[in-house]
Amino acid sequence: FKPAIVIVAAGRGERAGAPEEGPKQYRLIGGKPVITHTIAQFSRWSAPDVVVVIHPDDENLFGEALAKVPDAKNIRFVHGGATRQQSVLAGLSALEDTHPSHVLIHDAVRPFFDLALLDRIADALKAGAQAVLPAIAVADTLKKADTNQFVADTVSRTGLYAAQTPQAFAFEPIITAHRKAVEEGRTDFTDDAGIAEWAGMPVRLVEGLADNVKLTLKRDIAMADEKLSRNLV
Ligand code: C5P
Repeated sequence: FKPAIVIVAAGRGERAGAPEEGPKQYRLIGGKPVITHTIAQFSRWSAPDVVVVIHPDDENLFGEALAKVPDAKNIRFVHGGATRQQSVLAGLSALEDTHPSHVLIHDAVRPFFDLALLDRIADALKAGAQAVLPAIAVADTLKKADTNQFVADTVSRTGLYAAQTPQAFAFEPIITAHRKAVEEGRTDFTDDAGIAEWAGMPVRLVEGLADNVKLTLKRDIAMADEKLSRNLV
């Protein structure tokens, strides 16, 4: 069992107020860039090989963020692409020569996962799963809207889950599936479990973590900062 990590951080983060304020993965929460927290958390977990996928414009920001990771080891970066899917494939390709058995693919903008989540994922992989997805059962009642912002229907939430990252895979099958998606012109996947499903890999669910939110909006950054500041007191 030799897992490696791909952290995708090449997005521009327009929904969080960029470009004026810079991409959200480099905003400060608790005094450090979001991505510093994310990388540090993986570094605490059995020192895996880590590839961070960044935007070519962000090399300085990334260098500063990496310098703040205590004990940063085995971490390199490559440049990403125009979509998350392209960025993930760039990260996977960079890992190919090190022959990992498995890979965990994670959004840089989710700094609040814990080591117990990584262990749950690793246990599922060791038990033979080809693809593992941390997810949370949907708690809210779901409504489908019509085009005039009126409710058209109530959707049953039974069996519905919200997908998180890190999503984990056997390395060879997932890089093959990613390349096949490109060959067949499928460039619309928003997560890697989606590509695994499309390629026919069974995707095993494990319990996600309520705290493991994706920092998407400006408000999410402010709330994350407040949460970390509170924890520091
Ligand atoms: O845009 P979205 O919220 O789906 O981004 C999820 C993650 O994917 C973020 O960490 C973002 O930096 C990354 N991403 C990327 N390359 C892109 C777009 C998004 O690495 N072209």
